[in-house]
Amino acid sequence: MSDFHIQTETQEPPLDTAMQVIYQWSYDPEVDELRNLYLKATEAQWVAERDLDWDRPIDHAKFATTPLGAALPIEKCSYWQSLSEEQLWEVTRRTASFRLSQFLHGEQGALMTAAQLVNAVPHTDAKFYAATQTMDEARHVEVFAKYIDKLDEIRPISLPLRRVLDSTLATGDWMKKLVGMQIVVEGLALFSFKEMRSLTEEPLLKDLLTYVARDESRHHAYGVQYIDRCVPCLSAAERTELEDFALEASRTLIDNRNQQAFMGEILRVWAEVGIDAGELLSCLQREMDDLTRDQEKGRRLGPVQGFVIPTLRRCGLLSERVAAHYLDFLRANVSRSLVGEDVEEFLRFLPDLPEDTAAWVLGELR
Ligand SMILES: [Fe+2]
Ligand SMILES: [Fe+2]
Repeated sequence: MSDFHIQTETQEPPLDTAMQVIYQWSYDPEVDELRNLYLKATEAQWVAERDLDWDRPIDHAKFATTPLGAALPIEKCSYWQSLSEEQLWEVTRRTASFRLSQFLHGEQGALMTAAQLVNAVPHTDAKFYAATQTMDEARHVEVFAKYIDKLDEIRPISLPLRRVLDSTLATGDWMKKLVGMQIVVEGLALFSFKEMRSLTEEPLLKDLLTYVARDESRHHAYGVQYIDRCVPCLSAAERTELEDFALEASRTLIDNRNQQAFMGEILRVWAEVGIDAGELLSCLQREMDDLTRDQEKGRRLGPVQGFVIPTLRRCGLLSERVAAHYLDFLRANVSRSLVGEDVEEFLRFLPDLPEDTAAWVLGELR
C-alpha cells in the first residue's frame, strides 16, 4: 500500500484567485535594473543542505539571547527574571518556534505569490526575476521548516497574516501582488529578520537568517525598482487604489485588535510552560514606567513606520491623503511621541530608506 495521497489532512480547500497570465514576445533586456537584479540572484543561489551546518545541536545558552519579539521588553520584568533556567529555555524555544512558524507560513505565501508573478507581470526581465525569487522562497520554506523541526513543532498561522496572504494571492492585479508581498509582507519580515538575526547568538539560527535576509533584501529591491517604474504610468484613480491596498495590508498586520489576538496566542504558548498570564501582566503593569523609559529614549520605530511606509514613499505611493490614514491608525497603536501630531510632523519623523538594504539588514540594530 502506498502512503502517497492527493488529498492530505494538512491541506486547505483551494483558494480562488483572479490572476491573469500575460505572454511577452520581446525577450530583449528592457528594464536594466531588473535584469541586473536577476543576474545577481542567479549568482547568489545557495544550497541549504550543503551551506548550513544542520548537524550542530542547538546551543541552549546561546539560544537564550533569541528575542521574544514583544512590543515591551518583557524579559526585563521581575516576574520573568524569577523564572528557572529550565523554564526560560522552554519559553524561549516555544516563542521562537511560534515566531518562526509565522515566518515559515509567510514564506509559503511568498513562494506562491512569486510563482504567480512569473505569469502575471508583463515584462520579460520581471518574469525572470520572479522566477529566481520563486526558487529563493522555496529554499526559505525549506530552512525554516527544518530549523523549527529541531526546536519544537510548527504552530498555526496567525489570522492577520493569513488575511494579507489571501488578499495578495487572490487579487487579479499584479501590481497589488507586488505591493502586498514585496513591500508590506517582506518589509515586515526584513525588519523582524534583522532584529532576530542581530540579537540571537545561536549559530545555526544566525547563519540561516543571514542567508535568508540577503535574499530578502533583493526581493524588496525588486518591488521598489519595479513599482517605482510603474507608478508614473498610473492614472490618479489607479494610484489611489494601489495606495489603499498597501494601507489595508499594513493596517491588518499592525491593528491593535490583531496585536491583542497575537498576544493572546503568545500567552497560550507561555501557559504551556506554567507562566501565569495574570501575574505576568500585573508585574508588567507595576513596572511599566521602568520598562518603557529606556524604550522612549531609544525611539525605536516599528516595522511599518520604520520601513514599510518609507518604502512606499520611495515608490511614490505615499500621498498626503494616505499619510493621514497611516497617522490615524498608528496613533491608535503607537505612542504619540513616535508618530507626531499632524501629517507634516509624521512625514518629518519618517526615516529615509537605507541606501543599501542588504548592509542595513545585516548590520547591528540601531
Ligand atoms: Fe523569503
Ligand atoms: Fe522574499
